[in-house]
Amino acid sequence: MDKLRICGGVQLKGSVPVSGAKNAALKMMAAALLTRDELVLDNVPRLADIATMGRLLAGMGVTVERDGDASHTVALRADGLHSNEAPYDLVKTMRASIVVLGPLLARVGAARVSLPGGCAIGARPVDQHLKGLQALGAQIRIEHGYIVADLGSSKRLRGARIVTDLVTVTGTENLMMAAVLAEGETVIENAAREPEVADLAQCLSKMGARIRGAGTDRISIEGVERLHAARYRVMPDRIESGSFLVAGAITQGDVRLEGAAPGTLDAVLEKLREAGADVQTGEDWIRLRMKRRPSALDLRTAPYPGFPTDMQAQFMALGCVADGTGTIVETIFENRFMHVLELQRLGADIRIDGNTAVVRGAPRLSAARVMATDLRASASLVIAGLVAEGETWVDRIYHLDRGYERMEQRLAQLGAQIERVTA
Ligand code: EPZ
Repeated sequence: MDKLRICGGVQLKGSVPVSGAKNAALKMMAAALLTRDELVLDNVPRLADIATMGRLLAGMGVTVERDGDASHTVALRADGLHSNEAPYDLVKTMRASIVVLGPLLARVGAARVSLPGGCAIGARPVDQHLKGLQALGAQIRIEHGYIVADLGSSKRLRGARIVTDLVTVTGTENLMMAAVLAEGETVIENAAREPEVADLAQCLSKMGARIRGAGTDRISIEGVERLHAARYRVMPDRIESGSFLVAGAITQGDVRLEGAAPGTLDAVLEKLREAGADVQTGEDWIRLRMKRRPSALDLRTAPYPGFPTDMQAQFMALGCVADGTGTIVETIFENRFMHVLELQRLGADIRIDGNTAVVRGAPRLSAARVMATDLRASASLVIAGLVAEGETWVDRIYHLDRGYERMEQRLAQLGAQIERVTA
């Protein structure tokens, strides 16, 4: 199993290109199920999760082609579907697999998708996905651990007004994708406003869907009979961007991100400024300069445009070396503090009380062997390792590879002393 070895204490300097957004690309790949024509996606990151989605779709009969090993273009064509099943073995490794449910129902009228089951960061039920699909006319039952859905005697899903009980990102996306081929109009109220939802809507629109309001909490979709071929460029990854910026800030460095989308990072950039960073932005770049020890921050995760839960662990690493004490409240996932015990192994002073972490900054961290528990937790350990005195080893980095493309090479490009060790 691969590990990362990090020698802390180097200020990061230089520029780094931002990858395409994993959490947009995954859903667009699933959107390929909605048409028999070809969907070509550019700026698709090379990640373990993208490969998993490719395998899942290929198992259903979708042709998935990447244009050479180093390419970021993926062509998908769902003209020979022979299965409508998302098997347990794939869904358990990647919960995002649930987003094939809506497209399959819309296109072939039936689906068998494994229930995702437990997760390291929280219970994460999918009841809102199911409730919304039922409102669109799907008949759903749970059998042998699988969601089994069909249209009964109907030929198509029917448009409906859906009010979700809470804000769910993949739930909104699943319903939006189901509704694009439904008969009549669908309105999703309390929709997730995440930029990835809006990006997916733009991709679907290029395929011929009629969607208004994506990016707001009310999305309306006028169903069409079919979608067609399209080519779409995936938006830049805002969480990867934020992670590199925190790495720059913690090392008191000077980092410039190229090909970024600063407009999707307002809450994160505001917190970095509050911590003392000088942050400048252009249309597609962000530069962060940090000249002093960061100030402690209080933050609370919330659905977009609030502070993203996917940046919580990285900011906790920053808080560990901050001047002062800050609190972090996690409101989205009930178990997303798994990184705390590992950060403590690096000498961090963190106390947990329910969904609140009190982080008392220390002048320094000391290197140790630590273990990644989930994707963003891994990023926080790498970030902490960049300033810990001595040699930090991060184990189980397959979590990191799920969502960051060659992170160690790109940090090394900024001067970090970091290498991958293959056991
Ligand atoms: C998406 O997960 C992202 N994943 C997550 O990124 C991200 O952390 C999360 O949104 C929140 O921003 C993908 O886009 C693939 P939710 P998702 O449904 O859609 C509860 C990463 O690191 N809920 O918005 O699964 C749920 O338990 C990952 O890249 C229900 O109760 O999250 C949670 O508490 C991790 N019932 C809250 O809503 C439902 O039917 C928000 O979850 C659906 C969700």
